[in-house]
Amino acid sequence: MLEIKGLNVFYGEVQALHDVDMFVGQDEIVSIIGANGAGKSSLMKTIMGENRPKSGEILLHGESLVGKHTHNIVKEGVIYIPEGRKIFYELSVKENIEMGAYSRKLTPKQLQEEMDYVLDIFPRLRERINQAGGTLSGGEQQMLAIARGLMGNPKLLMMDEPSLGLAPIIVDEVFDVIRTIREQKHIPIILVEQNAYMALSISQRTYVLELGYVTASGKSMDLIESEEIKKSYLGG
Ligand SMILES: Nc1ncnc2c1ncn2[C@@H]1O[C@H](COP(=O)(O)OP(=O)(O)OP(=O)(O)O)[C@@H](O)[C@H]1O
Ligand SMILES: [Mg+2]
Repeated sequence: MLEIKGLNVFYGEVQALHDVDMFVGQDEIVSIIGANGAGKSSLMKTIMGENRPKSGEILLHGESLVGKHTHNIVKEGVIYIPEGRKIFYELSVKENIEMGAYSRKLTPKQLQEEMDYVLDIFPRLRERINQAGGTLSGGEQQMLAIARGLMGNPKLLMMDEPSLGLAPIIVDEVFDVIRTIREQKHIPIILVEQNAYMALSISQRTYVLELGYVTASGKSMDLIESEEIKKSYLGG
């Protein structure tokens, strides 16, 4: 469903991605792991049309995304939940969630139904529906960011470091939600994570990025056993 071939991305003279190849199939969770500065977010931003690649292809169902505007890519159902959440602090939880549907033409009834669906997944948000986004805890803000993303009716959902800065118990909650979304919506999910153990545990396949190169890829359950991966990413 998403196919990336020979992707090269530069910031000025500096090359952030080198010949990246990647494939994401329907109904699979694919994780991307790698250290700070490896190019994980750059890859997501390039898919979203925020960075223009110097060369290479990005195909969604065989159609090129390269050169399209971000809002058109969003309309096609590619939804990116960036790192650092980027929720609207002054807006209420309800308003934040509604913003996720901005590019769709929904009737008030449809909006309400979709809202009910996401609030069933996140009961904590329902309890805080009128609270300002900026007053939520870090974990609640992450849930809000995911809830807002779901309102965009994703056909491909990309999450950038959803576990960042969260306590382990909240990380578990967020990962449970990711599993639920995949089971209920049958959409592919790209998960960018520094928490390599969680990423490998939840995903079917994983790509390892190092300094802009894909240095390893394969089934997550194989990579989790690899000595190289253990040494570099799983703390021994
Ligand atoms: N807008 C930009 N202009 C110039 N260089 C950039 C820009 N964005 C990212 N870079 C550089 O590209 C490289 C990859 O950055 P990127 O944000 O993709 O890494 P990352 O893997 O997401 O790291 P992290 O885990 O810290 O979020 C880094 O060296 C970074 O400094
Ligand atoms: Mg990043």
